[in-house]
Amino acid sequence: MPNLEVQLGDLLARNPIFSASGTFGHGLEMQQFCPSSSLGGLVSKTVTLRPRGGNPAPRLQETSSGLINSIGLENKGLDSYLEHVLPEMAAADCLVITNIGGHSDTEFAELAARLDQQPEVHALEINLSCPNVDDGKLPLSTDPARAAQVVTGVRRATSKPIFAKLSPNVTRIGEMAAAVEQGGADGITAVNTVLGLAVDWRTGQPGVATVQGGYSGPGIHPIALRCAWECVQATRIPVIGCGGIVEARDVLAFLSVGCNAVQVGTRSFADPSAPARLVADVERALVEAGFEDVHDVIGNIRDGRDRHPRPRPAGREACS
Ligand code: SIN
Repeated sequence: MPNLEVQLGDLLARNPIFSASGTFGHGLEMQQFCPSSSLGGLVSKTVTLRPRGGNPAPRLQETSSGLINSIGLENKGLDSYLEHVLPEMAAADCLVITNIGGHSDTEFAELAARLDQQPEVHALEINLSCPNVDDGKLPLSTDPARAAQVVTGVRRATSKPIFAKLSPNVTRIGEMAAAVEQGGADGITAVNTVLGLAVDWRTGQPGVATVQGGYSGPGIHPIALRCAWECVQATRIPVIGCGGIVEARDVLAFLSVGCNAVQVGTRSFADPSAPARLVADVERALVEAGFEDVHDVIGNIRDGRDRHPRPRPAGREACS
């Protein structure tokens, strides 16, 4: 069987397939469909310092190629997460990543400092990119200086690895990626949802109450792939590809552009066993293609550009 282990900075994952924040329940409730032991890692829904009620309904609208959401980061806050969710996640047999969201640098830093005390958390993912909060203000990840500032604050508050989750809703995502790397991020998740809108033309009723929302699912895969590729070009830190994965070839495309891992999101709503199935499908696809190691695919895109060498697990260096 081909080697699937991947290195994300100091973290070693058994395979490159992770769940995406907000799409895999809380704790381990998906375990019956998709055992954590089949995954590289599990990412929590965004946790904020204080509870958030979220946005008014309707919050979800299905479209022909994906889903528009406007949840508004509903969650019960950090205290509840630490008391009820994290102990459950701690039982996961894979990397555990807590996704954090805040209104200010101080909130992000406080979240990071308190989570730094939790040995069950292997890494933090900073949500700089939710399009559905702050009354229409642009997400932090549309401003390189602000995004870097938040990352630096989190960097000072924790020694855990930090991944910055970026937005595709920018002209040059490479500039955002470089900024968060400079701010101290150990990795990047590329990307969150694409701004979208659906409307019932008869009634004029928008699909979500906030009118615009975050569009995810197969329709955004080529956009996410291009964004991830730009982040790989612009930085030396690991990039986790996220956006529109349905099949093994979508996972492998993210790896081909240089991502070290991927996150499966919207697909899990339709098929909660999808992440585990994708691991098996990727393994089979590699065998069929004659690849012995997932690193034979990582960064193999022939785009005519020089690329920084992507990290491999120790002991798995390519033979010269
Ligand atoms: C939401 O809660 O509105 C979605 C989360 C996100 O896009 O980060």
